[in-house]
Amino acid sequence: MRLYAVAPPGLERVVAAELAAIGIAGAEVTGGIEWDGDLSGLRRANLHLRCATRVLLRLAAFRARSFFELERHAGRVPWERVVSAERPVALRVTAKKSKLYHEGAIAERLAAAILKRGAAAFVPAHVDEDDGAADLQLIVVRVLRDEFTISADSSGEALHRRGYRQAIGKAPLRESSAAALLQLAGWTGETPLLDPFCGSGTIPIEAALRARAIAPGLANPGRTPRHFAFTAWPEHDAARWRAATAAARALIKERAPAAIMGSDRDAGAIQLARANAARAGVEADISWQRLALSAAEVPTPNTAVITNPPYGLRVSANRDVRDLWAALGRFVRERVPEGDVALLSPDPALDRQLGVPLQVAAATRNGGIPVRVLVRARGPAARVPTGTPAA
Ligand SMILES: C[S@@+](CC[C@H](N)C(=O)[O-])C[C@H]1O[C@@H](n2cnc3c(N)ncnc32)[C@H](O)[C@@H]1O
Repeated sequence: MRLYAVAPPGLERVVAAELAAIGIAGAEVTGGIEWDGDLSGLRRANLHLRCATRVLLRLAAFRARSFFELERHAGRVPWERVVSAERPVALRVTAKKSKLYHEGAIAERLAAAILKRGAAAFVPAHVDEDDGAADLQLIVVRVLRDEFTISADSSGEALHRRGYRQAIGKAPLRESSAAALLQLAGWTGETPLLDPFCGSGTIPIEAALRARAIAPGLANPGRTPRHFAFTAWPEHDAARWRAATAAARALIKERAPAAIMGSDRDAGAIQLARANAARAGVEADISWQRLALSAAEVPTPNTAVITNPPYGLRVSANRDVRDLWAALGRFVRERVPEGDVALLSPDPALDRQLGVPLQVAAATRNGGIPVRVLVRARGPAARVPTGTPAA
């Protein structure tokens, strides 16, 4: 099987390290990681990847420059590996620099081929990266310079939708971005951790999942797997899937080894964070406090500070935001001189306010805005992220 893990922009390296940690050696390509594997790897990747968006199975690759050629190839795609009469199929097509460029017309031709194999296919008006659901099979089609790549989504809902975050605050961070911050910081779970701007709690919750080696696909109190699209494929092996989830459950630590703390000055945010932590089944691992940064406490000088601080859209014009970042820098220098640090910054003008030696670990996007992940500079050899434990 040719498999492909879609990574958020700029985080391919992080996803590659996560795959390596579960015994999968993939090749980094733009937008994700490719590897030759089997259903076992596909199951483990879906269950364990904290930072990837979804996992795709390559169904076919061919060249077509006319609808006639496209139809001929579409008839030979092994659709029956992933479609069934019970689940409708949605097609997401992107075409660039190709003779066939009308995405809707390409989708219609492919839908007709799928229909002939007995599945109901439809072409939604718009399917973005986050779409995908329990009750439909997403087919991802990319056309570049007349080369077609047809893949089946094996994840269903995007992997960052762990299921615990039903309550969100003002500027929530994706679960996968929070996990990437932890990994890029080099935080292993052995030292205490504080997010002093925790909002709806995503960073402390992801930290607790990681510290206890809870697979992100089991982020609920019962440790039952969330739904994945591949479990509806005809070749899905329910017994092996039960064994994979049981193996993942066996890795879980009873408690997080060190204190995990989230604070925010907003009382509503703390309420949301508590509710989300309960839904993820990590309530007992995190202490939440309603506090402004100026009143935040840390237990040890090696406490990690991993955070997504507030930033206005026009940072240079916002004096309050600059002062807050300067206060965060003082906090890091004075209170956690030895701790791991990672934060998201939209603007080098804000980094300078911090006055802490930092290095850019990744450049990605958050809520549509380009941001950089800054981590504490630890000398010339940056630490390699460790990833999820092998199953
Ligand atoms: C960008 S949001 C963090 C979002 C969070 N990562 C999430 O996933 O929901 C920034 C948070 O900082 C909080 N905040 C702003 N100024 C603060 C201060 N001086 N002290 C503590 N928290 C503050 C806001 O209430 C807001 O929840």
